[in-house]
Amino acid sequence: MAIQWFPGHMAKARRQVTEKLKLIDIVYELVDARLPLSSRNPMIDEIVSVKPRIILLNKADMADPRITKEWLSYFKEKGMHALPLDAQSGKGLKEILPLSKLVLKEKLDRLEAKGVRPRAIRALIIGIPNVGKSTLINRLAKKNMAKTGDRPGVTTAQQWVKVGKEIELLDTPGILWPKFEDQLVGYKLAVTGAIKDTILNLQDITVYALNFLRENYPERLKERYGLEEIPEEIVPLFDEIANRRGCMMSGGMVDYDKTSELVLREIRSEKLGALSFERPGEEI
Ligand code: G4P
Repeated sequence: MAIQWFPGHMAKARRQVTEKLKLIDIVYELVDARLPLSSRNPMIDEIVSVKPRIILLNKADMADPRITKEWLSYFKEKGMHALPLDAQSGKGLKEILPLSKLVLKEKLDRLEAKGVRPRAIRALIIGIPNVGKSTLINRLAKKNMAKTGDRPGVTTAQQWVKVGKEIELLDTPGILWPKFEDQLVGYKLAVTGAIKDTILNLQDITVYALNFLRENYPERLKERYGLEEIPEEIVPLFDEIANRRGCMMSGGMVDYDKTSELVLREIRSEKLGALSFERPGEEI
């Protein structure tokens, strides 16, 4: 999905999310476990404000498990509820209901004390594009695709999807924008495939990715591209990878675009293993 957010789009997205928030008890905020801060909307805390929320670190299967643990502690220290998730395989899914009940315990107890008959928890999935919202909705809805129909008092038709007996999910997620005005954030989003390569310069994204790998996962970089040592300068590093992988143009010149495409494709398809692009405490 190409992201083209203009102020008008942002205002509209925000309005749509705010409307949806009125209908629900809890927000499931999806972030990318490989970059949990860069893949959040910059205004999410303000937009969601008082609604109870669970942060789902999705694509945890692609993230460095040690760093995902650090993120879980990070959110816990901030008094926020977070869970790792792999929406594609469904790993982590069964933790969502018990945690939702815990987060909403006070509200549910209060309703019960008033004699209100228990009803399903109403939830909304929110996140930036490509973070796995549709995948998660489809996963959750799989067991029971029966829709419960529109609720009265809603201007735009909202459909609810039953997830077992205890959760009802709005079938369209809340889509918000990432912090792409920050260049480093942009590179991280591009490397993970959250934004299209055409938005930023392909070779710039790869320079970021190779420098990141050199600093954080040097052994994997060496192993993948058969490097004895990692050249200190970026151009020789490109050249060595290009030579080893035959990314050359006629006349023996290095094809930097082809090399970039290869490196990015291999990172995204986990040929260099599970990678996390930010860890708690780093400036973003
Ligand atoms: P969105 O609604 O938030 O925009 O995201 P969507 O569900 O379309 O997911 C974006 C991509 O991320 C999809 O891949 C999807 O399969 C993948 N994805 C979602 N959740 C996970 C996860 O937990 N782990 C992994 N590894 N991948 C996940 P795609 O390449 O766009 O499509 P496809 O591979 O499904 O064909």
